[in-house]
Amino acid sequence: MRHLMSPLDFTVDELNELFDLAANIEQTPETYKNICNGKILATCFYEPSTRTRLSFESAMLRMGGQCLGFSDAGSSSASKGESVADTIRTISCFADICAMRHHKEGAPMVAAYNSSIPVINAGDGGHQHPTQTLTDLLTIRSLKGRLSHFTVGLCGDLKFGRTVHSLIHALARYPGVSFVFISPEELRIPDYISESLRLSGIPFEEVIRLDDVIGRLDFLYMTRVQKERFFNEEDYVRLKDFYILDRKKMQNAQEDMLILHPLPRVNEISTEVDDDPRAAYFRQVQYGVYVRMALILTLLEVNPC
Ligand code: CP
Repeated sequence: MRHLMSPLDFTVDELNELFDLAANIEQTPETYKNICNGKILATCFYEPSTRTRLSFESAMLRMGGQCLGFSDAGSSSASKGESVADTIRTISCFADICAMRHHKEGAPMVAAYNSSIPVINAGDGGHQHPTQTLTDLLTIRSLKGRLSHFTVGLCGDLKFGRTVHSLIHALARYPGVSFVFISPEELRIPDYISESLRLSGIPFEEVIRLDDVIGRLDFLYMTRVQKERFFNEEDYVRLKDFYILDRKKMQNAQEDMLILHPLPRVNEISTEVDDDPRAAYFRQVQYGVYVRMALILTLLEVNPC
């Protein structure tokens, strides 16, 4: 039985198979509409979510399966003090697969150790968000035709942004990828990530001004400043509008530079950019459903043939 805690849990070849399956699902969705009949997905979300939880549920429902779960720890027995380990032992009696989001780093891993069903990390604190990364990679592969030889800009809250951490780990495995980290000093990429890139010989640079680098990026991954991970409101207010991508800034970007964002967006991308053909963030949401359908089939070992 396999779980998904990090995008590195799959080899590059396994990811290619997963993305091929997701592409096939996109092209022939009717082939898959009953493939999960009798299967149940549990969504255990201790933290708020719109896209991840609902795209998992949409994925399972589109394949004929069913869903149960909670979207608020306060409505679960966690509020009475139940541990993650006991909760997953219980959920294992009710469902065939579980997607879990938790505010504590490593909580889905604890669940996986205590589970008799596959567990998917749907975001753990400021650590990892592997299914967002699968979504990001499928979007890039679908819109650019490859996952290699890119200059990738990541902009905003690189300290707390778990989607950024997972995406860097995943993209670092492809040849010819270099990174430009764009953040205020206080929200720089964690040292353990920059150190691992340095040790692997993967080129990266850290800058503060987006204007200085936007013209040489193949895609720009914008992120929200993660209010929920700040220790004080004053720092959040000072940093929250540090970057705002607008039409004027986009004039300096390459004609085919993709704009990605895991969403939710607050102010960091002006809505006036939404009509720009380079804005891919809502297409990204749709790819998230296809890749989660493919992931559920893979972890449940359901053969599409
Ligand atoms: N991208 C993402 O994780 O969005 P949600 O928080 O809405 O699930």
